[in-house]
Amino acid sequence: MYSFFVFGFFFLAIAASFPLYKRANLDVDILQFALTLERLENKFYKEALSMWSVDDFVDANFTEDFYTQLKYIVHDEEAHLVFLEQTIRATGAEPVQACTYKLPLDGPAGFVKNLATFEGVGVSAYLGAASLISSKKYLTVAGSILSAEAIHQAAARNAIGEIPMANPFATPLSANAIYSIASQFIESCPVNNTKLPFKAYPELFVTQGLPTAMNSSITFASNGTLPNSTQIYVTFVSGLDVIPVAGSRNGSSIRATVPEMVSGQSYVFLTTGNSSNLTDSNILYGPAIIEVTPSSPTFNVSIF
Ligand SMILES: *[C@@H]1O[C@H](CO)[C@@H](O)[C@H](O)[C@H]1NC(C)=O
Ligand SMILES: *[C@@H]1O[C@H](CO)[C@@H](O)[C@H](O)[C@H]1NC(C)=O
Ligand SMILES: *[C@@H]1O[C@H](CO)[C@@H](O)[C@H](O)[C@H]1NC(C)=O
Ligand SMILES: *[C@@H]1O[C@H](CO)[C@@H](O)[C@H](O)[C@H]1NC(C)=O
Ligand SMILES: *[C@@H]1O[C@H](CO)[C@@H](O)[C@H](O)[C@H]1NC(C)=O
Ligand SMILES: *[C@@H]1O[C@H](CO)[C@@H](O)[C@H](O)[C@H]1NC(C)=O
Ligand SMILES: *[C@@H]1O[C@H](CO)[C@@H](O)[C@H](O)[C@H]1NC(C)=O
Ligand SMILES: *[C@@H]1O[C@H](CO)[C@@H](O)[C@H](O)[C@H]1NC(C)=O
Ligand SMILES: *[C@@H]1O[C@H](CO)[C@@H](O)[C@H](O)[C@H]1NC(C)=O
Repeated sequence: MYSFFVFGFFFLAIAASFPLYKRANLDVDILQFALTLERLENKFYKEALSMWSVDDFVDANFTEDFYTQLKYIVHDEEAHLVFLEQTIRATGAEPVQACTYKLPLDGPAGFVKNLATFEGVGVSAYLGAASLISSKKYLTVAGSILSAEAIHQAAARNAIGEIPMANPFATPLSANAIYSIASQFIESCPVNNTKLPFKAYPELFVTQGLPTAMNSSITFASNGTLPNSTQIYVTFVSGLDVIPVAGSRNGSSIRATVPEMVSGQSYVFLTTGNSSNLTDSNILYGPAIIEVTPSSPTFNVSIF
């Protein structure tokens, strides 16, 4: 479907048997992947700001102040893009070029909601990549960009009435999981773009129950089949927690109750088995992105 998925398994198989080859190249692949995501964000944000003026945002009940912040966000994302291009060129590789995208541009309110989600996915991408990066220099780069993405996410969540600090921990996601999300917005990429060693999982949809909260019921569906004979788990990923919950089947839908510890922008996979070690072999569908309203904040005055 997307030309740059095709070599995913093959590359991983080769890379696994040549660890040194993998180490050097994986860092550059991760930079290329980051650039792929930044190009998507850039195109999305610039198109939105060229479509809607400050008045359109004000009519949608955003403040002029927030509109100014949006311009800073676009400015930051462009800086990330240019920086990553230069960093990739400095390794001797050719930076991946822009793809063609299918972007959800359905008005200022929907745009800001999507921006909040995209920035959260950006945070999860850079955080998830951290453990794969072997160069400490690139790790600092990833941490630096991650922090900027988290500030963007906080501003956008605040603007749409979501608690910015909904979870004490940011959520790391694997490259394949991020790839699965990004690929939903990518139509095609230039054929000579570097093939990235990642693959997309089949999509999972929330059919009922958003926004949700702890102890609430939420329902999912996919466009594929579910194995009939085994228990399917609905595995929630939120902050540093990975929590499998036995799902209740109803035809092609599957329902679960949102467990404790799941809060803020979180991710859901359908998995076989209840392992909290998510791998290609136990993930069936996902990730779906969910927004979980945090419980009231509590803290213990005895702990300093
Ligand atoms: C903006 O807020 C006003 C007052 O609360 C409300 O009546 C109006 O429907 C809101 N407009 C939009 C586009 O949300
Ligand atoms: C792909 O080809 C275009 C046009 O020839 C070129 O500008 C670009 O640098 C190439 N990209 C890669 C990743 O090789
Ligand atoms: C969720 O359910 C558990 C167990 O029934 C209960 O102890 C807890 O107070 C509930 N939390 C919320 C936020 O509803
Ligand atoms: C896939 O499933 C979703 C959710 O049930 C539905 O909205 C969508 O139309 C389906 N897409 C296709 C191609 O069947
Ligand atoms: C699962 O069971 C349903 C109803 O019993 C049946 O229609 C369907 O074909 C089965 N699916 C598979 C993958 O076996
Ligand atoms: C199962 O799904 C059907 C329609 O898809 C719905 O009418 C029914 O209420 C559901 N049953 C349960 C137990 O949720
Ligand atoms: C996972 O399933 C196994 C086997 O059914 C069970 O022994 C174990 O307690 C379960 N673990 C969790 C975390 O639910
Ligand atoms: C998770 O599963 C993978 C693949 O089976 C394995 O290589 C890895 O060691 C496991 N990680 C943990 C923390 O169990
Ligand atoms: C608060 O923290 C103190 C010190 O760690 C601990 O002894 C106490 O049980 C905690 N109380 C609650 C309600 O968590």
